[in-house]
Amino acid sequence: MSTKELLIIILLMSGTVLPSSLIRAQGQTTLSEALKDCFLIGTAVNEQQIIDKDTLGAQLINRQFNAIVAENCMKSQSLHPEENRYDFGLSDRFVEFGEKNGQTIIGHTLIWHSQLPKWFCTDEEGNNISPDILKKRMKEHITTVVKRYKGRVKGWDVVNEAIEDDGSFRKSKFYEILGEEYIPLAFQYAHEADPEAELYYNDYSMALPGKRAGVVKLVKELKRRGLRIDAVGMQSHFSMNWPSVEEFEKSIIAFAEAGVKVMITELDMTVLPAPKHNIGAEVSASFEYQRSMNPYPKGLPEKIAMAWNKRMESFFALFLKHKEIISRVNLWGATDKDSWRNNWPIKGRTDYPLLFDRNYQPKAVVDFIIQKAQE
Ligand code: XIL
Repeated sequence: MSTKELLIIILLMSGTVLPSSLIRAQGQTTLSEALKDCFLIGTAVNEQQIIDKDTLGAQLINRQFNAIVAENCMKSQSLHPEENRYDFGLSDRFVEFGEKNGQTIIGHTLIWHSQLPKWFCTDEEGNNISPDILKKRMKEHITTVVKRYKGRVKGWDVVNEAIEDDGSFRKSKFYEILGEEYIPLAFQYAHEADPEAELYYNDYSMALPGKRAGVVKLVKELKRRGLRIDAVGMQSHFSMNWPSVEEFEKSIIAFAEAGVKVMITELDMTVLPAPKHNIGAEVSASFEYQRSMNPYPKGLPEKIAMAWNKRMESFFALFLKHKEIISRVNLWGATDKDSWRNNWPIKGRTDYPLLFDRNYQPKAVVDFIIQKAQE
């Protein structure tokens, strides 16, 4: 009898009501077992799970997923709040969490315009710093972070969200100061810090033709310069009507043809109405709460749950079809209650975007994935 089984018996004898997922999970094939020959199956991990406050969440993650990404604690704002101060408390625990469970650990993210501390690109008066100072700061930040987890973090989202929907460069602070040069520089610094680490470019709205073309161009340019880039990360924050499976597939193929692997890095699918079209996954987007924008606070109607499962199934069927190209499929959270989509782009809504529900129960699509992977 395993320790877990023994524990379950003790808890049952003491009258504790166990979540049915724990009982059901015994002896049942998990996502990570079913998908082991297809691609890594990962999730974002939040602070409550890292510090084991959400014990059931942490258990679910350890059973079902073999790759993890920090939802927030490896972003520059968290890791490097002041120029001369790093805070590795939580990120160290995140890496230990993955090592303890034998999971592949992914670093997210080195250079990004969001969750970026003010000091990084501006001086005390709020003016942009010079190109030379920014290069120095980028190099120092990337080197310190990547070296700290050398040999432990398998790959890094080196640059996040640098391309606009039309394929042009996002006019971020990094771009304002250094122009497009900041991207190859970031890849160069990351590679110098850990030559073994895989390096990725990550972005949202990747099914848009303009974005697709811009990312392909960027990958080719990095390769032309002889820089390492292993994969393109497609964030995949979906809704019920966007993107189409067909357009998404075109991007998977286009990235593979540019000579890199593809990773689905932040998968979730909202069922809630959008306050505006084309906001992609820009985290600064924010709209006022209205009751009409939160239609399912008490549960999801069966019809919508079924449509959600069907649509999620068609995406997993697509990922499995391209398992030679796709090296990781990563959810942006384990259960619906963990999802950032409950609060973005409108705070305080109830969404149902992930593979496990608020009671840690798998949705129908999980069985589908397990069956399909084993065919
Ligand atoms: C989100 C987190 O999930 C939230 O907790 C946080 O408040 C904002 O960022 N694209 C990314 C992720 O690359 O890092 C973002 O994560 C979601 C969009």
